Amino acid sequence: MAKDNSAFFKKKNTWSEIKDRLLGCYLPQYFQKVLLTYKPIFYVDCFAGKGKFDDGKDGSPRIALKIRDDCMGRTSAKGVRIETCFIDLNYADELNANIADYRNLNGIPTVISGRYEDEIERLLAAKYDANIFLYIDPYGIKALDYGLFTKFADYGFNSIEMLINMNSFGFMRAACRAMKVDYIIDEPLDDLVEYEPTQVDDSPQSVKLLNSIAGGDYWQAIVRDYNAGEIDGYQAEKRFSTEYKQQLRKKYTYVLDMPIRMKPKQRPKYRMIHVCNHEEGCILMADNMSSRSDELFIDVQNQGQLSLFNCNTENDVINEDDIEQKMMNFLLNFPNGMTANKLIALFFTEYGVLCKSGTIKKVWKDMEKCGSIEVTREPALTDKGRISRTFTESKNQSVTIRRKP
Ligand SMILES: C[S@@+](CC[C@H](N)C(=O)[O-])C[C@H]1O[C@@H](n2cnc3c(N)ncnc32)[C@H](O)[C@@H]1O
Repeated sequence: MAKDNSAFFKKKNTWSEIKDRLLGCYLPQYFQKVLLTYKPIFYVDCFAGKGKFDDGKDGSPRIALKIRDDCMGRTSAKGVRIETCFIDLNYADELNANIADYRNLNGIPTVISGRYEDEIERLLAAKYDANIFLYIDPYGIKALDYGLFTKFADYGFNSIEMLINMNSFGFMRAACRAMKVDYIIDEPLDDLVEYEPTQVDDSPQSVKLLNSIAGGDYWQAIVRDYNAGEIDGYQAEKRFSTEYKQQLRKKYTYVLDMPIRMKPKQRPKYRMIHVCNHEEGCILMADNMSSRSDELFIDVQNQGQLSLFNCNTENDVINEDDIEQKMMNFLLNFPNGMTANKLIALFFTEYGVLCKSGTIKKVWKDMEKCGSIEVTREPALTDKGRISRTFTESKNQSVTIRRKP
């Protein structure tokens, strides 16, 4: 089932397109916002690839560098900079050649030939003052050491965000192999093939490797429940990804994920996981994931046909009553109220990307009207002296929401 790696860059696959669109739609918003902190940005593509696919399409390094140049050309912030670094174990020379046209006044991208896991700590060591963005897009799961993610959180950077490609299906398959359990795959293998699947057997070393990737041994209980028939393979993958995100939440406030599946209800090929500590980053990414999921449903899963229903990133049909119900329950966690942006970001982290942030604001509007929530706005009046009804926070506007007793 393993695929020849050299084939990966021949032609850009649909799932690579989706991944790159997620990155490419988020980075302009991220750079624009974070440049205004007047601290340097350090962008690292940790598994950068060749920079360009053989069919001429841009890979993640060229996508990021183009956005760097656009944002540097447009920003109102003076004296700011975006430093870029690209690591690849196999393609450093081709990558260097493919990004040569981005050596310009905005900086010379650094290219490192080596392993992310060997290089990254040294690269980050001198960057305490910076805003760090790590794009982590490996073939398989082997290099996704959870211990490194926890270390990054403790460096004390001005800010840190990561976009991680986690092959949760590949993890569960390896986990079953390590515990000598058959993982039955009842769907076309072509959609699930892995580049560089992790070689595991039932040795203690394999168990240790999987513990270090997962950040604990909780996955073993999932395999046991799967083996006992208490959950099926789909539920096992979903439970693993939920528990993996809970591990990340020990170190990062906001964690989101978007499953990439080629057909509705299929196992995801992988999950794109976003972690950060700032609510605005989380909301921008959630809106981005929601839009990219809509594109995925229409362009790939439904072959161009519009769906009659609103779905969340997991393909489940979602309506505003569901959201209101969940919001009412969630607000019980904040008896003194919570500011609007933090509440949206925490809500998405808790329940997943159910909708766009605009839908949450619409639901709040109805809830305020029918008296189930109390909204405190500071200032309470608009510039024109009218009572403010906004749910949009800014430097000069705070909005706090509380469930009425
Ligand atoms: C999925 S591809 C990256 C694709 C890239 N993000 C793009 O959009 O073009 C994974 C890349 O990781 C590289 N690689 C494999 N193991 C690595 C490691 N330990 N550290 C850094 N790069 C590695 C491979 O050579 C390959 O180019």
